[in-house]
Amino acid sequence: MTPLVDGFGRTHTYVRIAVTDRCNCRCMYCMPPGGIAPRPKGDLLTFDEIARVASICAGMGVTKIRLTGGEPLVRRDLPVLVRLLRGIPGIETVSMTTNGVLLAENARVLRDAGLASVNVSLDTLRPERFERITGRPGPDGVVAGIDTALEAGLDPVKVNMVVMGGVNDDELPDFVEFARHRPVEVRFIEFMPFRENGWAPAGMVPQAAMQERLARRYRLQPMNGGPGGKVRGFAVEGAAGSVGFIAPMSDHFCRACDRLRLTADGAVKPCLFDGGEVRLRDALRTGAGDDTVAAMIRSAVLAKPAGHPPAAALAAAGNRSMIDIGG
Ligand code: 5AD
Ligand code: SF4
Repeated sequence: MTPLVDGFGRTHTYVRIAVTDRCNCRCMYCMPPGGIAPRPKGDLLTFDEIARVASICAGMGVTKIRLTGGEPLVRRDLPVLVRLLRGIPGIETVSMTTNGVLLAENARVLRDAGLASVNVSLDTLRPERFERITGRPGPDGVVAGIDTALEAGLDPVKVNMVVMGGVNDDELPDFVEFARHRPVEVRFIEFMPFRENGWAPAGMVPQAAMQERLARRYRLQPMNGGPGGKVRGFAVEGAAGSVGFIAPMSDHFCRACDRLRLTADGAVKPCLFDGGEVRLRDALRTGAGDDTVAAMIRSAVLAKPAGHPPAAALAAAGNRSMIDIGG
């Protein structure tokens, strides 16, 4: 087996698979204001096509899969896909990133199908704000989803908060309190620019500033992971859970990037911020053999850039929107 190594010596063991481009939320940092036209269903890879790509990737050393969207739980029969993926030799963990809206009713079935863990997006604990940020009522349903995931034994359960200056950055302590009572890992994420998502330099609260604000009230003890890793985790005294920071803007973790993305319409996209992609779908549908598909995936990986440009340049560049790429 030849591992998936790119031009900068990074080995790829992790694939994020978008299973749909549809979503039942309209998060302001993700979805352009006019929405996006969903692709015709026939453009999406079928479960069998996804499993085939995953198994070809596993043959090149991929061990971890994360299901994303759009919102993965709006794709019908998702547990069937989880089971298929878990059955692939070499795939050790299948996890999912979700907005949590449909999680309460799905957590147990997913766990039984072999889902290991879940990341839930939750950007505010205040109902009015929740509606303004996501376009739907909450956050009670999402919190119920998080609690059901914990009860079902999904482990870990992580909570993703995109921190936006002037929008929700006054809630950092509330999220620490959220982690006090639940064994979740809350991750404060720097707001990233994507097409038409309202990003402005002032909306980006750098990790250092978040940490400084929290340090006034809490003693945060650094946990393992340290520099090089993508998440910097901290224990909070007396809390069941922990907090962490994801700083794509102020800290380039690109040099340790081990991930690839497969878009819902079957393109391999090695970098979130780079337009480069290799479309597999038509090849899959016209009888390409596994070796051909593997070579296409390798070529995508070889074209992966070293890293992304600074924030302001990104904001100006015409990337796909986040909803279109798949979180
Ligand atoms: N900036 C930072 N994180 C984002 N996400 C989506 N859009 C952005 C953005 N503009 C993250 C959210 C969500 C996951 C799917 O992607 O944390 O949980
Ligand atoms: Fe949907 Fe997630 Fe985008 Fe929000 S961030 S609109 S929940 S895909």
